[in-house]
Amino acid sequence: SMDKPNIVTCAAPVNIAVIKYWGKRNEELILPINSSLSVTLHQDQLKTTTTVASSRSFQEDRIWLNGKEEDITHQRLQSCLREIRRLARKRRNDGDPGLDSTGLSHKVHICSVNNFPTAAGLASSAAGFACLVYTLARVFGVEGELSGIARQGSGSACRSMYGGFVQWIMGQKDDGKDSLAQQVEPETHWPELRILVLVASAERKPIGSTSGMQTSVETSCLLKHRAESVVPSRMAEMIEAVQRKDFTAFAELTMKDSNQFHATCLDTYPPIFYLSSVSQQVISLVHRYNRHYGETRVAYTFDAGPNAVIFTLQQHVPEFVQLIQHFFPSDTNGGQFIKGLPVNSASIS
Ligand code: PMV
Repeated sequence: SMDKPNIVTCAAPVNIAVIKYWGKRNEELILPINSSLSVTLHQDQLKTTTTVASSRSFQEDRIWLNGKEEDITHQRLQSCLREIRRLARKRRNDGDPGLDSTGLSHKVHICSVNNFPTAAGLASSAAGFACLVYTLARVFGVEGELSGIARQGSGSACRSMYGGFVQWIMGQKDDGKDSLAQQVEPETHWPELRILVLVASAERKPIGSTSGMQTSVETSCLLKHRAESVVPSRMAEMIEAVQRKDFTAFAELTMKDSNQFHATCLDTYPPIFYLSSVSQQVISLVHRYNRHYGETRVAYTFDAGPNAVIFTLQQHVPEFVQLIQHFFPSDTNGGQFIKGLPVNSASIS
């Protein structure tokens, strides 16, 4: 009956950028100054799970994050709700017979939980908004290209709408219609690739990505150089490395891009520091390890926080994990290894 709530639950995994997104050319539509590329994790690992209920009896839209009610009037949340309802209305007006009677006027109650620390630079907003948009779309019977809506929740969220290796093409248009995520290779493409997450700190980051990017765009000439003259050719090289499954090329580009992103943070005025002394020790360890074998076996990347994300191949995982546990015993300095994550699986349930 019309009074029974329509309830849908979905999960979406975190994605880790190997070519970083940093800087917007349009704040409201969330249009980036450069393209980016990421790997979406296995959905059983770092993920957000969201349940959306819609019912005629609900008086207003409401949202709970990790059990705590949050402000539904949040601008980007409102963008996602508005855009999904707009698409649903368009579909109904186009006379889609598959669209059931789920009222477009029905209010929704949203419950979202992360299985990892929120806002610690572990891309929680990416999984969160991807999951929200995907689940809302199911509730309102909307299908098709949804990355443009997820992007308006959080830029990096558009890449979590697909599994495997995903690029976010920056686009050229002012209205953002061509600023979308696209799968480069599916999750089955490179089964030997592994991702390890080293949690150096689970605290909330001191400077969020939104204000950090703003200051960087306003003050860093290195960021401008990076967006215009470095990323375009680096994107092409990275896509080629992924397609060839060339770990050496993939790893070196990943480390260089992480380092350049953090260099633009230091070039920002006042400067932004996301790396901690533990992060710097991890960077040195990776380079020493690779030098020891005379080949690039391991790569690191860091987002807006001190936690290291390590890429390596299956056969090197046991030894490298031992090394990490030796140098970062979890009871002494807070550094703790958490997961060996395969990437060879589906992204959204
Ligand atoms: O989507 P946001 O606003 O959380 O920004 C993400 C920025 C980085 O994680 C640092 C880089 C990226 O491409 O994910």
